[in-house]
Formats: sequence, C-alpha cells, structure tokens
Amino acid sequence: MGLMRAALLAGSESAWLRETAARRPAVRRAVARFMPGERVEDALGAAASLRDLGIGALLTRLGENVTDAAEADEVTRHYLDVLDRVRGLAAEISVKPTQLGLDLDRGLCETNLRALVERARATGNFVWIDMEQSRYTDATLDLCLAMRGLGAHVGVCVQAYLRRTPRDVEALIAGGAGIRLVKGAYKEPPALAFSDKRAVDEAYLVLARRLLSDEARRAGVRAVFGTHDPPLLAAIRNHAAGGGLEAKACEFHLLYGIQRAEQERLARAGHRVSVLISYGSYWFPWYMRRLAERPANVLFILKSLFRA
Ligand code: FDA
Repeated sequence: MGLMRAALLAGSESAWLRETAARRPAVRRAVARFMPGERVEDALGAAASLRDLGIGALLTRLGENVTDAAEADEVTRHYLDVLDRVRGLAAEISVKPTQLGLDLDRGLCETNLRALVERARATGNFVWIDMEQSRYTDATLDLCLAMRGLGAHVGVCVQAYLRRTPRDVEALIAGGAGIRLVKGAYKEPPALAFSDKRAVDEAYLVLARRLLSDEARRAGVRAVFGTHDPPLLAAIRNHAAGGGLEAKACEFHLLYGIQRAEQERLARAGHRVSVLISYGSYWFPWYMRRLAERPANVLFILKSLFRA
C-alpha cells in the first residue's frame, strides 16, 4: 500500500485529527466538492438536480461506529423519515451497519435494519448496506441474508480487494440479494486483501463478469458496479454488450462530485446510474478515505490543517 494512502487511512481513524480538521474553513471548503451540504435538505436538493439528468440518488448520512443504542435508534428513525420523503425522487438509501448499532449488539442492528427494509418494501424503495472493515464482513453478509424474505428491497456492498469476496459473492447470488461491487476503501492486512491496484482491478473484473452471468441474472440478483475507473467501466460495458445484455441491465453507482461527465455519459448511454450523496456533520473519516483514493490535493489540505 502507498505510504500516503496508509497515512490517510490511519488518519481517518484519529479522533484528534477529526476534531482539528473539522474546524478548518479550508478543509470544509475542500469537502464541499464531495458533498452538497451537511443537511438532508442539501442532499435532497442535489438528488432533484440529478433526477433532471436521468440520474438516481443514494442518500447516506455520514456516521459510523455508533456507541449508544439511543443514537442507533435516532439514525434508524432518520432513515425511516428519509424513505418517506424521497417518494417520487428515484432515491434510495445506503446505510452502515455500525451506524445502526452493530458494535453494540447484532440483534439491535438487525432490528433497526429490518425496520428500514420493511419501510422500503412498503414504499417501493431499496436499502443498500455498506461494507465496512473486514472485522464486520461476516456480520454484514449475515444481516443481508437475514433479510432474504425482503430480497427485492435490500442489497449489500462487496469489496473486490478482499481475497474472500469470490466466495461471498456465490452465497449472495444463491440468496438472490442485490450486490454492489466496489474496490474497497479501508486499510486491510495483506493476508486478507490485495493492496496492488492491478490485482484489485483484475479481481474486480472477474467478479463483475460473475455478477453479469446468466446464473446471477436467473437468481434475480441486482448487480451494481460502484466504480469511477474508466478502463473498468469500459470493460464491464463491453462484456455486457458482448453477452447481448441491454444497457439498462448494467447499473452503475458513483460518488457525488467524482467523474461527473462520466455519470452523465453513462446515463445517456441507457445505463441505470445513481450517485451516492453524503450529508451530515460526521464527515471526517469518510473524507479521509476519499483523499486516500486520490491523494493529489492532500498536501494542500494538510498544510491548511496546521496553519495558525
Ligand atoms: P480508483 O480508486 O482506482 O479510481 C479510478 C479513477 O476514478 C481515478 O483515477 C480517478 O480518476 C477517479 N477517482 C476515484 N476516486 C476519486 C476521488 N476520491 N477523487 C477524485 N477522483 C477519484 N468502499 C467500501 O469499502 N465500502 C463501501 O460500502 C463502499 N461504498 C461505495 C459506494 C459507491 C456508490 C461507490 C462509488 C464507492 C463505494 N466505496 C465503498 C468506495 C470504493 O471502495 C472505492 O474506494 C472508490 O470507489 C474508489 O475506487 P474506484 O473504483 O473509483 O477506482
């Protein structure tokens, strides 16, 4: 793993840095590129603009590793409210299990998640479960599969960098769950994850082909590709077209503010495209992970942190 990436991912877990950085206007300005604002109304406004371009939205309130059951309940109520507010907006939600209480009690997290998925079923919507560090992978997959009866309304993110993911994908295909394939954003040991970009990209493409296979499609899997990587996007689209799939069978999710022109190009080409919009005040660890993906502006940001 590059030194810069390792330092940024370590920094993403530092409470001191989080407190210091969040107060700096320069950092707040830089963050604005990746999120329209801290309020849910900011995210809903951005979702409405995307809808005009034929692009859907995924709403996620930033937060993770909740340590208090009352907070996990509050997060759940917040998302229930969002599911009611987004009707007619082509907007889904994306939630982190540790935001719903996974660190406190798996049962509590499952109850909270089930409430969201049931509301999504009632409103014709969909809940995406984010994938966090590898210590949560088993529990997160189990949570998704526990919602199996509500399968048409729930999906989970899987990370191509994890060596275990091909096995996990088979279990999810058998369960007919929605699957969003990403490269993976956390710091993981080499025994568990590929660190070399080429290895991750190769693993991604193999998994992408599997998700577009006849078997996965017959099982009712909703396959989504969460990447901004132009060669990968092209390879996936070519593979799908070569197999005779129509454009809308190939769905892409990208992050707000990244590869905007590509987002619009994909939508114009007939693909289902959604953009993940983050909001909320707990943006620091998430923003550091975005910088780790592309450290180009890091020196500028770091200097601004330590300026008097
Ligand atoms: P890669 O990092 O190789 O970037 C390819 C190109 O995309 C770059 O060359 C650059 O042009 C552009 N790019 C990528 N990131 C950029 C950035 N931050 N700023 C500017 N340009 C950038 N991860 C995870 O572990 N668990 C999860 O639940 C999720 N959820 C998720 C949802 C969605 C909708 C997306 C798009 C991504 C995630 N991720 C995630 C993050 C994912 O694991 C990964 O870190 C990022 O998507 C970046 O990887 P790429 O596939 O874009 O490729």
